[in-house]
Amino acid sequence: MKGSLLYEGKAKRVYHTDDPEQLILSYKDDATAFNGKKKESFPGKGRLNNLITSKVFQSLHQQHIKTHFIQALNETEQLVYKTDIVPLEVVVRNKAAGSITRRLGITEQTLFQPPILELFYKNDELNDPLINDVHAYHLTGIREQDLLFIKEQALLINEHLSHIFQKAGLELIDFKLEFGFLADGRLVLSDEISPDTCRLWDLETGTKMDKDVFREEIGSLTDTYERILQRLEESVCAK
Ligand code: C5P
Repeated sequence: MKGSLLYEGKAKRVYHTDDPEQLILSYKDDATAFNGKKKESFPGKGRLNNLITSKVFQSLHQQHIKTHFIQALNETEQLVYKTDIVPLEVVVRNKAAGSITRRLGITEQTLFQPPILELFYKNDELNDPLINDVHAYHLTGIREQDLLFIKEQALLINEHLSHIFQKAGLELIDFKLEFGFLADGRLVLSDEISPDTCRLWDLETGTKMDKDVFREEIGSLTDTYERILQRLEESVCAK
C-alpha cells in the first residue's frame, strides 16, 4: 500500500510502502532541462516514462543485470527496492552529443570506440560537475571496488541497451545511470532509463527521439516518447 511521500524530485515522487525495503516511484508529467532552468508539463509523459523504464528494466533483468525494479503497479507508478543512492551520474557515450560537444569541442556524431564513460557529481547547487575517480571517492565515500563495479556494469548495460534499442530501430547515442545500495549492501542499478535519460536517434533518418526534442524545441515530446514505447513493444513482441 502507498504510504507517505518520502521525496519529490524533478521527474518523480517517491512514496513509502508497508514494506520498509520497498518504495513506490510515481512518474510526473513535468519535463525539466538545463538543471531545472527550462520547465514544462506534458500530460501523459509520466505514463510513458513509467512504461518505457519498466520495459527496459525487465529486458535488463533477462540479461541478469541486478536493478532496484520490482514491477509496474499501474500506468504511472512502479514498485522498487529502496536503495541508498550513490550521488553520481554515470554517463556512457557511444557518439558525441550534448555537453561533451560544448565542453571539449567535439563535433556531434563523432563515434567513440570504445565508449566514453564520465562521472558527474549529483549536486544541483554545483550544476552536477564532471569529476574524476578520486573526486568520487572523496565526495561520495564510495570504495574503489564499488566504483569499479559501477563502471563495469555501466559498460555492460551499454551493450544490452544498445541491442534493445537497435531492435526498436533506434541508435543509443548516450545515457545516464544511477546506482544505489540495497539494505543487504548489494550495489544495483537504480532510477530510470527513458528518453529523459538517454539520447536515441532513429537508425534510418538520424531524427532525435528523446528529451532533446524538448531541450531544442524541435518536436512534440509526448508524440516522440509514444513512438519509443510503441517501437519497444513491437520489437519485444517480434522477438
Ligand atoms: O547533458 P549531457 O550531454 O552530459 O547528457 C548525457 C546523457 O545523460 C544524455 O542522454 C542526458 O539525457 C543524460 N542526463 C540525464 N540527467 C542529467 C544529465 C544528463 O539523464 N542530469
